[in-house]
Amino acid sequence: MTGCVHCISPPPVTLYTPRTSPSSASRSSFSFSGDAVHSLYRVRRVTRSPSIISPKFQIVAAEKAKPLKIMISGAPASGKGTQCELITQKYGLVHISAGDLLRAEIASGSENGRRAKEFMEKGQLVPDEIVVMMVKDRLSQKDSEQNGWLLDGYPRSSSQGKALNGFGFQPDLFIVLEVPENILIERVVGRRLDPVTGKIYHMKYSPPETEEIAARLTQRFDDTEEKAKLRLKTHNQNVTDVLSMYDDITIKIEGNRSKDEVFAQIDTALSELLQQRNTAPSSLLS
Ligand code: AP5
Repeated sequence: MTGCVHCISPPPVTLYTPRTSPSSASRSSFSFSGDAVHSLYRVRRVTRSPSIISPKFQIVAAEKAKPLKIMISGAPASGKGTQCELITQKYGLVHISAGDLLRAEIASGSENGRRAKEFMEKGQLVPDEIVVMMVKDRLSQKDSEQNGWLLDGYPRSSSQGKALNGFGFQPDLFIVLEVPENILIERVVGRRLDPVTGKIYHMKYSPPETEEIAARLTQRFDDTEEKAKLRLKTHNQNVTDVLSMYDDITIKIEGNRSKDEVFAQIDTALSELLQQRNTAPSSLLS
């Protein structure tokens, strides 16, 4: 599925009935939200004469759709974290950010955290022996298994991808955010984080809503222009290897648009993926 989201061929017209709202039976009136996504009944077309106009669908199984497994990738400050906030809000997936796991490890004061910080300060990849098990353990937790996961910033090398593969973790979709390099540096240096809500801001593009929030915002230790350039260099050294691993399930998203426009592209892809799943014969459901 490489290429622009708009190039994905439309799925067959199909009717979905969310468990929470049995009456909202038309696709056009249905919007995915939170748990509802994971509670979809599979429905199947009833074969009857096409001349009969009333809807010809019946629920054939009350089985839950399998949870989505998504990876999101892109250069530093391409908007991965921002989009993950929006995706999890709508689709209820568990957001697992390799960078956040590493920062939590640093904050814990552990030896792994201390070592990780040495690499992060230089904009380099933290060694696999620290990152791989950290991510694998988080993916193995019950909430990720039950609700599906959204893996952000992993894998960043083919060895990381292979390791995850070896543990049996395969994504359904690999999202790549594409943003021109000259935009990325400005995004990095303007980024601020709210330690209370975890929300990501940008002093120009996504400023804090109130002065109270503005006063408590923090900046990441690697969000300087100098370190962003090092991170970008590391990204560029590894990106081709990583992309080649997921070629057949990759969707490239134009990331240099407003965050809502970027999300709209992702949303379309995820909705279509869910639709395809729910129309596939049981034997094809992955
Ligand atoms: P990590 O924390 O993952 O950093 P990163 O990949 O450099 O990505 P960022 O978090 O900087 O950016 P983002 O794409 O999430 O953008 P955001 O949404 O915040 O990793 C940090 C370090 O940890 C690495 O350098 C490495 O050392 C280590 N590491 C991590 N994973 C590893 C791994 N797998 N293996 C080994 N080492 C690893 O947006 C950025 C800014 O832009 C924000 O201010 C936001 O408000 C703004 N913005 C977002 N979208 C838009 C938009 N559409 N328009 C305008 N502004 C926008």
